[in-house]
Amino acid sequence: MDLSIQVGGLRLKNPIIAASGCFGYGVEYASIVDLESLGGVAVKGLFLKDRQGHPPPRIVETPAGMINAIGLQGIGVHRFVAEKMPELRRLRATVIVNICGSTIDEYCEVARVLSDTEGIAAIELNISCPNIKAGGIQFGCSLTGTHDVVSAIRKVTRLPIIPKLTPNVTDVASFARAAEDAGADAVSLVNTFLAMAIDVETRRPKLSNVLGGLSGPAIRPIAVRMVYECR
Ligand SMILES: Cc1cc2nc3c(=O)[nH]c(=O)nc-3n(C[C@H](O)[C@H](O)[C@H](O)COP(=O)(O)O)c2cc1C
Repeated sequence: MDLSIQVGGLRLKNPIIAASGCFGYGVEYASIVDLESLGGVAVKGLFLKDRQGHPPPRIVETPAGMINAIGLQGIGVHRFVAEKMPELRRLRATVIVNICGSTIDEYCEVARVLSDTEGIAAIELNISCPNIKAGGIQFGCSLTGTHDVVSAIRKVTRLPIIPKLTPNVTDVASFARAAEDAGADAVSLVNTFLAMAIDVETRRPKLSNVLGGLSGPAIRPIAVRMVYECR
């Protein structure tokens, strides 16, 4: 049966994409899942350099999901290209690289490195990163931030660009529109919902970072509503 789909400029053999941060760099799962059988593998978010992320505890279970504050731990784009891409190519995975940045220049540099790498199918743009030049507000929480980062990356790569929208805004469809106007091929919905858990015994936050992102069954109907609004 032909389950293939077209996502902007990207043809996938089926619509199943492993979500970024939930599937490592793909290679860790190769003994469990035939990576070639997936529509795509969105790898863990990558900055230009490696990052330690937040100290533990950084995951909390909730009644219908989990809250994480990993803090975008990662090996950086250069090590990813050198150490993970050869194996991902050998396994014939459709690789979608989730990219991060603290500045627009950093996003562009990561995109440039990936454009020069064989075997990358698309860039998923994690715009839920704090913009250090704008006082730390996430790129994806401002319409101009969203537009500016997407249009800058559009100028440096021919790879399909899929900005991943944050749900932590009032009108998500206007962010999809800003991304489209800036040259995005498609949008990805949704990143995690800003959340917090408190230990009632200690009266302290459960996560070292205090705030984290809620994912799982709890958010699914809200995410579906947001997909509908964007569509
Ligand atoms: C532990 C963890 C790490 C994540 N890391 C990333 C990441 O690096 N980049 C990104 O764009 N999204 C990241 N996400 C968000 C997921 O890709 C996904 O958008 C979110 O979990 C909501 O989907 P779900 O409820 O189906 O899990 C992460 C989620 C989790 C749970």
